[in-house]
Amino acid sequence: MGKLAAKAMAEDPRVTEAKRLLRETLRDHQAGLTGIRPPDPELRKGYEETLARFGAMRGASLYYPYLGSGMGRGALVELADGSVKYDFITGIGVHYMGHNHPALLDAGVDAAMENTVMQGNLQQNSASEELLALLLKAANRKGAKMAHGFLTSSGAMANENALKVIFQKRSPAHRVLAFEHCFAGRTLALSQVTDKAAYRQGLPETLAVDYVPFYDENRPAESTAEAVAVIKGHMERHPGAHACMIFELIQGEGGGYLPGTPEFFRALMAPLRAAGVSILADEIQTFGRTSEYFAFQHFGLDDLIDVVTLGKLSQACATLIREEYKPKAGLVSQTFTAPSVAIRSASVIVRYMEEQGLLGADGKIMRLSRRFTDKLKDLARRRPDLAAGPFGMGGMIAFTPLGGDPDLVARYLRKLFDEGVIGFIAGGKPAKARFLLPVGGVEESDIDIVFPILERVLSEFAEAETKTEKGAP
Ligand SMILES: Cc1ncc(COP(=O)(O)O)c(C=O)c1O
Repeated sequence: MGKLAAKAMAEDPRVTEAKRLLRETLRDHQAGLTGIRPPDPELRKGYEETLARFGAMRGASLYYPYLGSGMGRGALVELADGSVKYDFITGIGVHYMGHNHPALLDAGVDAAMENTVMQGNLQQNSASEELLALLLKAANRKGAKMAHGFLTSSGAMANENALKVIFQKRSPAHRVLAFEHCFAGRTLALSQVTDKAAYRQGLPETLAVDYVPFYDENRPAESTAEAVAVIKGHMERHPGAHACMIFELIQGEGGGYLPGTPEFFRALMAPLRAAGVSILADEIQTFGRTSEYFAFQHFGLDDLIDVVTLGKLSQACATLIREEYKPKAGLVSQTFTAPSVAIRSASVIVRYMEEQGLLGADGKIMRLSRRFTDKLKDLARRRPDLAAGPFGMGGMIAFTPLGGDPDLVARYLRKLFDEGVIGFIAGGKPAKARFLLPVGGVEESDIDIVFPILERVLSEFAEAETKTEKGAP
C-alpha cells in the first residue's frame, strides 16, 4: 500500500513552499503593526456606517465598536477602521495565541486542504481523534481518570453534554447544585444554572437548581463551613434528588475572577461524593489559565472530578468523562462537532502550551500574571481612590475601578477601548475590569506598555467624572 493521498499532498513540496510564502507574507504585513494607532479618518465613516447596519440587523449594537480587519500581531489587533489596539480580553478568552500566530496559519492551511469544513459524528477525520487523545492525556497527567470525551462547538454545548451524561447516570436524580453568581452558558437548561435573572427572563424553568455561596477569601473558614452547611441543607430538603454540583473553580463572568482554594473545594466535594452527587468542573474559561492545563490540576483535585468541560482558548470545546459516565447510544451526538480549522488549531495550541513552557509555577502564564498583578497591587496601594484588587489567578486578572459602580466601570472600559486597550467587565456589585491575556502572543514588555495607559485613562476618567459631578462645564 502506497502513501495516503492526503499525506502525500500535505508533504508535497509545493505545499511546503506555499506555507513558507504565506508565513513570510504574514510577517511582512505584520511588521507595520508596532503599537496603538488611532482610526484612519478616511475609513472611519464607512466603518461607522457598517457598524450601524450590523447593529440594526442584529437588533442591538455591538458592546464595543469592534470589527476586526482580520490582521494582528501578538497582542495587537487591527480593526477595520484602521486603528490598532492592544487586545487584553481576546474575545473573552479565544485568541489565546495572540493574533495571526504563524502556527495557526499553518493549521489553517492544513485544515483548508482537508475535504471537510465541519467535522461531525458520522464523518470525521483523524485530526479529531488526535485532538481528543491530546485532551484526555492533558486531563489525566496528574492522576485524573478521564476515559472518554466528546468534541463540540461551544462551551454551552459542552456543558449540556456534561449534564446529560450525568443525569443519565444518576437518574432519577434531577436537581443541580451550583455556586451563586456562576456562569455556565445560555442554552435553555444552562440559563437556569447561570445565576443571573436577566439571562433567564421569560424562559421556562427547565432545570431545578440549588445555589451554594462561593469562597470568601476574607472569611476562609467561615465561608467554607457556610457552603458545606448550605449543601447539606439542600440535600436534606431534597433527599437523593441532586445529580451533580457544577464547580467553576475560578468564578468568571459572574464573580469577577474569584478563585477558591484546594481546602474549600475538598471540603465541599467530599460530602457530595459520599452522597453520590457527581462533580462537574466547568473549565470552559479556566482551561489554560493557571499553572496547569486545568484549574482542577492546579488545585490538586484530580481524584475528585467526574466530568470536566473545556472551551474558549481550545477553539473546539469538549466534555471529558470518567468510564462510569459513558452514555447509552444516542444520548450525545451532533451533525457538527467542530470545524476542521478549530480541531487542528486546538491540537496546535494544546501542544504549544506544554512545549513552549506556558505551564508550571514559573511558566509563562504565571510569569505574565505576576507582572500584571504586581502593577495592579502597586496602583491599588498608591491610588486606592482609583483601584482595588487585584483579583483572579494566572491568565485571568481583574481589578475594581472607581468603587465598582457597573455603569462607571463600563464607561471607563469604553474609554480605555477608545484609547487602544481592550478589556471587559465582569462581576455585578462591585463590577470589575477584567483581562484574559493572549498568553501565546504577549510578552512582559507588552504589559509594561499597556499598564501606564490603563492607569492614565483611569485617572483622567476619574477626574472628568468628578468635574461633571461638581457641575463644571
Ligand atoms: C465558565 C463558563 N462556562 C460556560 C461558558 C459558555 O461558553 P460558550 O459561550 O462558548 O457557550 C462560559 C463562557 O463564557 C464560561 O465562562
